[in-house]
Amino acid sequence: MKQITLNLNKVAGFVSQAQIDAYAPKVQQAQQMLEQGTGLGNDFLGWLHLPSGITQELLAELKEVANTLRENCEVVIVAGIGGSYLGARSVIEALSNSFSASLKDKKDPMIVFAGHNISEDYLFELTSFLKDKRFGVINISKSGTTTETALAFRLLKKQCEDQRGKEMAKKCIVAVTDAKKGAARTTADQEGYKSFVIPDNVGGRFSVLTPVGLLPIAVAGFDIDSFVQGAVEMEKACGADVPFEKNIASQYAAVRNALADEKKTTEILVNFNPKLHYVAEWWKQLYGESEGKENKGIFPAAVDFTTDLHSMGQWIQEGVRNIFETVISVAEVNHKLEVPFDEANLDGLNFLAGKRVDEVNKMAELGTQLAHVDGGVPNIRIVLPKVDEASIGQLFYFFERACGISGYVLGVNPFNQPGVEAYKKNMFALLNKPGYEEDSKAIQSRL
Ligand code: PA5
Repeated sequence: MKQITLNLNKVAGFVSQAQIDAYAPKVQQAQQMLEQGTGLGNDFLGWLHLPSGITQELLAELKEVANTLRENCEVVIVAGIGGSYLGARSVIEALSNSFSASLKDKKDPMIVFAGHNISEDYLFELTSFLKDKRFGVINISKSGTTTETALAFRLLKKQCEDQRGKEMAKKCIVAVTDAKKGAARTTADQEGYKSFVIPDNVGGRFSVLTPVGLLPIAVAGFDIDSFVQGAVEMEKACGADVPFEKNIASQYAAVRNALADEKKTTEILVNFNPKLHYVAEWWKQLYGESEGKENKGIFPAAVDFTTDLHSMGQWIQEGVRNIFETVISVAEVNHKLEVPFDEANLDGLNFLAGKRVDEVNKMAELGTQLAHVDGGVPNIRIVLPKVDEASIGQLFYFFERACGISGYVLGVNPFNQPGVEAYKKNMFALLNKPGYEEDSKAIQSRL
């Protein structure tokens, strides 16, 4: 399997090798804290050796349940939010044909996401779309009580039962949730749904390699064995026993902290392939929720190039110089398309005739990197061998490991998200949720 690589050449003018290497002791200490479970949030380290612990039995069970959904549903709704949503979406969007929704000879069910917003229009349009469809639902929530997901699931469960009958609904609704706690668990047990467990010690944003990610990915028709294998490779390559200078997770954690020391406090994840848009969304959650606390943390942002070169490109080239870019560069594309020769050459593009479209894209990438470095933006480059299951599995584990290290180096607990509760408390108070009477009174006096 070709491995992802990390290239730090284009940070050289901004931080020295000595500044990066100075992080080696802290990074090694963070690696040990992860490995020995001695750091903050150590009850959420189940992700660390998750890939190598995934059993053939679990993979077989996931594939069997995925096949039941594939056979009985033309549309499968994946209901979830945050860590119970972004991993699956990013893999499915990366691997799917960009026009799969309109392909005529579709063999795979259409995957639709819900439970990640509270938009009445979205839910109205979704439920209308499903009216004449044979659909199923994967209800994903670790707590089993998240409002966005629970609300969407309430609507979808009823519609599925009304349209398809109780027995078929039972076959086509699957829960991925806690082993014992939460409303999603209670509902699954009482209704007799097939269910998968999210391990206690794996937090939402680190859960893509549990059934949270694996089941929807399998339902969409992708190879979960290769995806897991990719992650297993990275688990070895990024382990605490791999020396600092050869360990790409350690290097990435070190360089981003060194850049932050130089007031580069916003990291922009860049892709040159729109299929990776949701990989960046997943990454933003991973780093944002893990590091953004106690008034600390690099702000994670993302752009899709070359599209956003025509919008955000100006800011990146010449705006406030507090940013650095991490570019995910894809070494080999999956398809071949050459620019045709045109006799009239009215568009003046014959200088590209015979070239692969990807060659043009690669030159845009190189030209952008050099321009941005010239403009004062350090560039980190991650080379992904291909957009396929194995490479994405590698990328996810690499980012997770580096995030754990980087969070410990920063001095925060990378595995909690206390700040997420503030909006929920206010929303429940405003909606007069039972148990929030005092908060309701207090918030009303502020309006
Ligand atoms: O990373 C996290 O823990 C969060 O983003 C959760 O995944 C998100 O809030 C959804 O929670 P739950 O799975 O409990 O519905």
